[in-house]
This record gives sequence, structure tokens and C-alpha cells, in this order.
Amino acid sequence: MNVTIKLADKNDFFIIKNFIPLFRQYVAKVYNELPNKYGVFSYDNCRTLQELCDKRESWTKKPNELFPFIIYAFDRPVGYALVSKVKPNSFEKSDYFINALFVVEPVRRKGVGYAAVKNIFDMFNGKWELHTSPAESNIPTQNFWRNLLKDYTNNKYTEFINKTTDGDEKIIFRFSNNS
Ligand SMILES: CC(C)(COP(=O)(O)OP(=O)(O)OC[C@H]1O[C@@H](n2cnc3c(N)ncnc32)[C@H](O)[C@@H]1OP(=O)(O)O)[C@@H](O)C(=O)NCCC(=O)NCCS
Repeated sequence: MNVTIKLADKNDFFIIKNFIPLFRQYVAKVYNELPNKYGVFSYDNCRTLQELCDKRESWTKKPNELFPFIIYAFDRPVGYALVSKVKPNSFEKSDYFINALFVVEPVRRKGVGYAAVKNIFDMFNGKWELHTSPAESNIPTQNFWRNLLKDYTNNKYTEFINKTTDGDEKIIFRFSNNS
């Protein structure tokens, strides 16, 4: 199986937009969130899925800071990853942060997420930080990060639980791939 990633631009970012509601639904389930007053799984008051996804177009507007990747496997787009450069004085004490990672259900557990993220790590050298929910319902994702980091860093990563700026407790993973 061949897994590739492509940095999305304004012409193909719509592919990521197609996946965003699926990712939001996963997140809502993990955090036991209700939809907003318009029936949209959204942190803000977006009235439609279209509005929610259109807002994310901002990811194509800062090419030196924001890196929206489409993940391809089986000759199809099967997911996405949103990577950002961390701004000085941010909560994250790192150079790079993965804001979102999603692989569609039919191709999960086939190594797609692993290959895509490894590719992304290899593209950016520095300190990395990843957050995920400590909830029991998120154990598969916690295992994904642990197994990937154990392998990618030769077990040289740290992990702790802390409250982040959004008030939620998160498992925080950190490592460096500075050569
Ligand atoms: C997390 C996610 C991206 C993983 O993608 P994936 O392509 O299924 O993962 P991979 O097949 O590359 O898994 C690599 C390894 O991670 C671990 N892993 C992945 N999914 C797992 C699961 N459901 N249960 C236990 N371990 C799992 C395994 O060690 C796996 O290797 P193995 O299958 O050889 O044992 C995908 O499950 C997903 O999109 N989940 C919903 C959104 C999400 O949680 N995003 C991350 C937010 S922090």
C-alpha cells in the first residue's frame, strides 16, 4: 500500500473540507459534546456544516505557518492532517503541533495514519507536541500515538496529562527530531 501526503492549496482544500465534519463528529463523541443550537458539531455558532468548513479555509492563507495535508492511499484521498508552526509564547512549548489528524474508517488499522504522520515528522525538524484526550473512549488514538512515537523516537518521548487553554485535560506528548 502506497501512502502519500499532499500539502493542500486553495484549489484542493475542499477535499479536507469534506472530511472535517467526520472528524468533528469523532471529537464530539470523545468529549461527549452536544451539537450547537443549529445542530452542528462546532465549537462556535456555525449555522451549517458549510460555514464550519469554509472557516477552515484560513489554513491555506499562511503557507509558512500552517500546513494542511491531504492523505492519499488506495488511489483515493482518505484523510487529512493539519500541522502548524507554534507561535512564540503559546501554550505549546514546541516548534510544531498537529491540530487535527483523521483517517476514514474503512482504511483504519492498515498503517495509513502511521505512514502519513511519519512522513510529516520527517518534513519538519524540531520540537513537536501532540495532544489527545485521556478519555477511555479515545484509547485507540492514545495507543496510536504511543506506538508511533515509541517507534519513531526510539522511545525518547515524554507524556503527561495537563489542562490545556481550552480547559480540557489532555495527554500531552513531546519529542524532538532535531538532527
Ligand atoms: C488515530 C488514527 C488517525 C489512526 O490512523 P490509522 O491509519 O488507523 O492507524 P495505523 O493503522 O497507522 O496504526 C498504527 C498503529 O497504531 C496503533 N493503533 C491504531 N489504531 C488502533 C486501535 N484502534 N487500537 C489499538 N491500537 C491502534 C497500532 O499499534 C497500529 O499498528 P498495528 O495495527 O500494526 O498494531 C485514526 O484511527 C483516526 O482517524 N481516528 C479518529 C480521529 C482521531 O482520533 N484523530 C487523532 C486526534 S488526536
